[in-house]
Amino acid sequence: MDKEFKVTPWEVSGEVDYNKLTREFGVRPLDDKITAKLKSRTKDLHYFLRRKIFFSHMYLDKALDELEKGNKFYLYTGRAPSGPVHMGHLIPWIFTKWLQDKFKVTLLFQIPDEEKFLYNQGLTLEDTKRWAYENILDIIALGFDPKRTKIFLDTEYAGHMYKHACMAAKKMTFSTIKSTFGFNDSQNIGIIFYTAMQSVPAFLPTIMENKKTRVLIPCAIDQDVHFRLTRDVAESLGYPKPATILCRFLPALTGPKGKMSTSTGEHATIFTTDNSDQVKTKINKYAFSGGKDTVEEHRKKGGNPDVDVSYQWLTFLEEDDKKLKKIHDEYKSGKLLSGELKQILIDKLNAFLKEHQKQREKARNQVEKFILKD
Ligand code: TRP
Repeated sequence: MDKEFKVTPWEVSGEVDYNKLTREFGVRPLDDKITAKLKSRTKDLHYFLRRKIFFSHMYLDKALDELEKGNKFYLYTGRAPSGPVHMGHLIPWIFTKWLQDKFKVTLLFQIPDEEKFLYNQGLTLEDTKRWAYENILDIIALGFDPKRTKIFLDTEYAGHMYKHACMAAKKMTFSTIKSTFGFNDSQNIGIIFYTAMQSVPAFLPTIMENKKTRVLIPCAIDQDVHFRLTRDVAESLGYPKPATILCRFLPALTGPKGKMSTSTGEHATIFTTDNSDQVKTKINKYAFSGGKDTVEEHRKKGGNPDVDVSYQWLTFLEEDDKKLKKIHDEYKSGKLLSGELKQILIDKLNAFLKEHQKQREKARNQVEKFILKD
């Protein structure tokens, strides 16, 4: 088996070893102690925590300690628009919404509409801006509190951000950026500067509150690389180091490796705007199965939920632990067939998407309530 994997903010490939990544990125495992500390404030634990879908963190303990002293933190997350939103994108946002409900705190949602313009060939700034406003519908659809949620496009909020990006950028060297992101000399200078823009929302709470205020950033682990750089410069600029709480990737439909991504195959990606027939076709056709070749053999030997993508997806989507365990056990014993397991996932996804699409339509005339502009 291919043991090589690669995780950068712009590329994920191979079979990700999350324990190894936790060590390599220098972040902390989300162990029982920190989880218990979180639970003492939230009363219950989101199933993403119970199942270690969120599995590591940095300075979550500090953010919680400050809460004890009456100092609220802000939440901060983001999305670089380059195309439609798919199921994988929603995972950290669903969790962010849970955190917002539990802690009743302000969320800053950055839409860096310059990021994929700078990084990808072929996307204009008009394209990314159009996707930004499409993607914002998906964000709003998840039910964030309009009074506590600020969404901003970098190109529309740059007047507030640019000065702070410059202050961060002055403390970051070219050689650090090159080695941190694996850049070479042919990269354009825009993307070299970009990480300074992604740092800024980690400082904005302190600026907005006029007192030291930490951010907690829920995101997929690949993004922590940016915030490692932010942490290196934060204190010398007068800001607390940002805390992160980090999740795994929703696996690609075609195999239990890497993350789901539009760039690895549009057909094998479930978008939030897919209709129920598209979902059914994609899951039946592409979802990698851990089942046996014949029904007879499957009944005798059982399936392998550890590699079965439909089962893996249900761990991200089926909230009920008991239901999930039953599916796991019946699949493993051979009682549940691959086609039946796929159908459970199809039903689950379609129920979720039906509601999401309804909320997404409603979001169209709410956008102004959420947007921050210069
Ligand atoms: N770089 C992220 C992306 O590619 C976008 C982003 C900006 C972000 N700020 C963030 C993601 C904070 C998570 C947390 O989509």
